[in-house]
Amino acid sequence: MKLKITNLTKHTGVKVENFDCSKRISSDIFLDIKNLIQEKHFICFKSQSIDEESLVNFTRNFGNLETYPEKDKTKGKIEIFNVSNISSEGIHLNEEDPRVVLQKNNSRWHTDSSYRYYPALFSILYGKEVLPRVASGGQTQFSNMLLAYENLPESKKRLLEPLHQVHSYNDIRRIEPSLPELSYEEKSNFPPVTHPVIRVHPDRQNKKSLFFTSNTSLEIGGMSLKEGRDLHSWLVNYVQNPKFCYTHQWEPNDLIMWDNRVLLHRVIPYNYTKFRRAMIRGTVEGTSPVFGPFSNI
Ligand code: OGA
Ligand code: MN
Repeated sequence: MKLKITNLTKHTGVKVENFDCSKRISSDIFLDIKNLIQEKHFICFKSQSIDEESLVNFTRNFGNLETYPEKDKTKGKIEIFNVSNISSEGIHLNEEDPRVVLQKNNSRWHTDSSYRYYPALFSILYGKEVLPRVASGGQTQFSNMLLAYENLPESKKRLLEPLHQVHSYNDIRRIEPSLPELSYEEKSNFPPVTHPVIRVHPDRQNKKSLFFTSNTSLEIGGMSLKEGRDLHSWLVNYVQNPKFCYTHQWEPNDLIMWDNRVLLHRVIPYNYTKFRRAMIRGTVEGTSPVFGPFSNI
């Protein structure tokens, strides 16, 4: 079988229209998918019919699954992240509900689980309930960090080269103070980590990309608070340049997969009270720390 593939932009993303992700995958198809994600960083598999079990099974093809970092707050499988403003009983949650506040935090450019020493490799997200096309917002937007790095002025590349950012799961509470406190155990499981802002990719002939987030911190380290915030804002503004981006307009039953090492993503905010949006996510664990320009690779 040959995958039917269409490019979504020149640099990022393909659509696959003739593959059923709920079935066992052959080694040929597995290799095709691995190559596609390596080259285009994003795949949308159209017209899927996925439940928690088939999402876990599909995700497991690519590695171990991350588990949700907070205890007993998910119903169902611990490997499934509910990316949703709907409770597991199907009730539309109000805007102040912590589960909805977390969705709002997803509208800041980020890369998944950067608060881990080995951040996530791939995220795989299935749209169970998506916004109607006429609604504003609800798309998932991606920005290509290889391209963003390439297009940086030389002076900015030099400035960023030695810098790190602190990534801390607990710091989501600093940005969204209405969220309930984490337990001592949850905090201790995820102490803050630092990652280089310029990431080096050994699987791409040591090519470089930008690597930062704005869902757990709003500053870059190694300088004064003001300078760190100004530089962070500059980066956030820089990566949303449409020439680096692909915006995914959801259709029901899309299953999307992206490479967190080279893409940032965010949800475009929508009217959380008016519209239901329910997705489930499987996440493939990283297999190495983030290497930077001064790492011993
Ligand atoms: C995620 C995420 C964006 C969205 O699941 O990691 O950031 O569009 N989702 O819901
Ligand atoms: Mn995310």
